[in-house]
Amino acid sequence: MRPVISATEFHPPTVAWAGGAVEIIDQTLLPGALEVVRLDTVDAVVDAIRRLAVRGAPAIGGAGALGMVVGLDEERPASTDAARAALGQLAARIGAARPTAVNLSWAVERVRAAAEGEGSPGGIRERALAEALRIVDEDREACRRIGEHGRAELSGATTILTHCNTGRLATLGWGTALGVVYAKAAAGEPVRVYACEARPLLQGARLTAWELMQAGIEVTLIADSAAASLLHTGRIDAVILGADRIAANGDTANKVGTFSLALAAKHAGVRFYTAAPTSTFDLATPSGDAIEIELRSADEVRTFQGRASAPQGVDAWNPAFDVTPHDLITGWITELGVLHPPFEEIAPAKVASASHG
Ligand code: MRU
Repeated sequence: MRPVISATEFHPPTVAWAGGAVEIIDQTLLPGALEVVRLDTVDAVVDAIRRLAVRGAPAIGGAGALGMVVGLDEERPASTDAARAALGQLAARIGAARPTAVNLSWAVERVRAAAEGEGSPGGIRERALAEALRIVDEDREACRRIGEHGRAELSGATTILTHCNTGRLATLGWGTALGVVYAKAAAGEPVRVYACEARPLLQGARLTAWELMQAGIEVTLIADSAAASLLHTGRIDAVILGADRIAANGDTANKVGTFSLALAAKHAGVRFYTAAPTSTFDLATPSGDAIEIELRSADEVRTFQGRASAPQGVDAWNPAFDVTPHDLITGWITELGVLHPPFEEIAPAKVASASHG
């Protein structure tokens, strides 16, 4: 299947509802192969989220929301009470597939809350699907707005450093941090990207480099360990990254390595932005200390593309994310506009004003 990439469309979609199942691009195969996988059981949805076949906070939110409907179809509840119970069980099971990105638990909970008030199993299923599709549509629009707000905030910034993958593969639209890049490109503004490879699973090398090349945007890949010295050269106008969970004080969880980039950007005097939809904000979590960080298999660190790259049996620590303290962040680019510090004073009212269903 050949991708057709324009400023507004991406084929095949990263996550879609098709013929009673969730279809995803299997991101573990990129850039070698572009394959769409059909997920028609809850086990398959949970497995795809866990093994990062679908990944990125908004994308797993969309896949999880649609997975709720897959679950209802599998269970075929015979009564309204049974359908309501199934909604609760599905939300708990799918929502636990990955713990750090709040978009996942937020999305399944939103589907559950929207559907449980219906008066029949068929009505619950119909409402669950409508809500899940609404989440997908809203994220697409949120990405577009994030791109435009980021473009206005960062006019004149042409060389962007980013990390992991925050683009079309990570969201249900054109992306968050990469959405700003796409918005610049769509407006005919000069833009080029330095992408960190994002060890251990290389979302930057495999996905961001691929996606930007498909879109015809100039991209230079760097080893994560080259970022500080690159920032020091003065060639980077701004660092823009995504987020998996933003706490009430602005502390931001994102792909491991983000904190180091923020420290290096501060030392180099380079602006450091987080770009995320309001569905990534978790104002019930007071600070980054309370964010659960997903620990993944040590084998992801001990191997490189399936081959051993360390002595067999060596101990390894593999947190998938880290937390960047809010005082290192210049601004949070959202669909509602750019939030500047003091985050705690501005964010709650802004985020509360976002209509989520
Ligand atoms: O482990 P991943 O690949 O799901 O991690 C993804 C990230 O950390 C992204 O930066 C984040 O989810 C934002 S995606 C718009």
